[in-house]
Amino acid sequence: MKIIIKNNTINMKGIILAGGSGTRLFPLTIAVSKQLLPVYDKPMIYYPLSVLMLAEIKDILIISTPRDLPSFKNLFGDGSQLGIKISYKVQPNPDGLAQAFVIGEEFIGNDDVCLILGDNIFYGSEFKNLLDEAIADVKVNQNAIIFGNIVTDPQRYGIVEIDEDQNVLSVEEKPQKPRSNYAIVGLYFYPNSVIKIAKNVKPSERGEAEITSINDEYLNINKLKLKILSRGFAWLDTGTHEALAEATEFVKVVEKRSSLKIACLEEIALNYNWISKKELSAQIKNLKGDYYDYLKKII
Ligand code: DAU
Repeated sequence: MKIIIKNNTINMKGIILAGGSGTRLFPLTIAVSKQLLPVYDKPMIYYPLSVLMLAEIKDILIISTPRDLPSFKNLFGDGSQLGIKISYKVQPNPDGLAQAFVIGEEFIGNDDVCLILGDNIFYGSEFKNLLDEAIADVKVNQNAIIFGNIVTDPQRYGIVEIDEDQNVLSVEEKPQKPRSNYAIVGLYFYPNSVIKIAKNVKPSERGEAEITSINDEYLNINKLKLKILSRGFAWLDTGTHEALAEATEFVKVVEKRSSLKIACLEEIALNYNWISKKELSAQIKNLKGDYYDYLKKII
């Protein structure tokens, strides 16, 4: 059954985690944030931001390193040009994904929260429905929602083991002997209780406060629900030079073939009437290049 909740922007905040040291992409990331690297025609962070916008989450916190946070501020400002609100916070050290909720405590306030990793790219049909269902499940049932996608190299990810009804049996971070091929992707929806849980997460053997520890807590109280990304849905990794090049190629091919852009933030804002055509025209009047030509065509 599909639960439709109108005005689902009210109680769901969004966090994009865009820090880390990016060492696997050196020398690309010696001087530049990984999440600002180009994926074909736009910076990487456009993709996760577009997911939050698609979910109609309009109050968003970007967390990054002391070095890189100013660059994100330069890129997005306060978000008003997209009809959204963007705030910023520093993560002093890359001590783990679970820290996002501790750093973001004040920002989250009494609301629920969606976390998306700044280097995860999603593309597929029916995505909006999936996001709406996740938000409704958090609101109505106070469940935590994770998404699974089949991979060939499960040792590299958080892994979820499921039964035949897709109930979660276990979650494990980068297991040597994975119990399944379902990777947990970098998109998570949590009720407000995640703040308290995150505060109690102990660092793992590799010294990080793991998101998997949070998911394990919800599993223990029978509140962890999984949604599988179906066949044909693309979840792209950008963790290696090869994967980054492939992501660029993927976006290029899809955009060329469909003549529609993936993760065009202004287009989403326009579709939801968060900004007007008049406002957008004024914003991009003097901007040149393929991305802005596309927007001018839409207007
Ligand atoms: O991509 C999905 C995977 O992301 C999940 O399957 C894993 O369960 C989850 O732990 C995570 O694994 P990764 O090894 O990919 O995480 P990584 O350390 O690469 O960090 C993911 C992103 O978060 C990356 O853009 C850097 C950023 N980050 C990472 C850490 C540890 C931060 O901003 N702060 C941090 O402290």
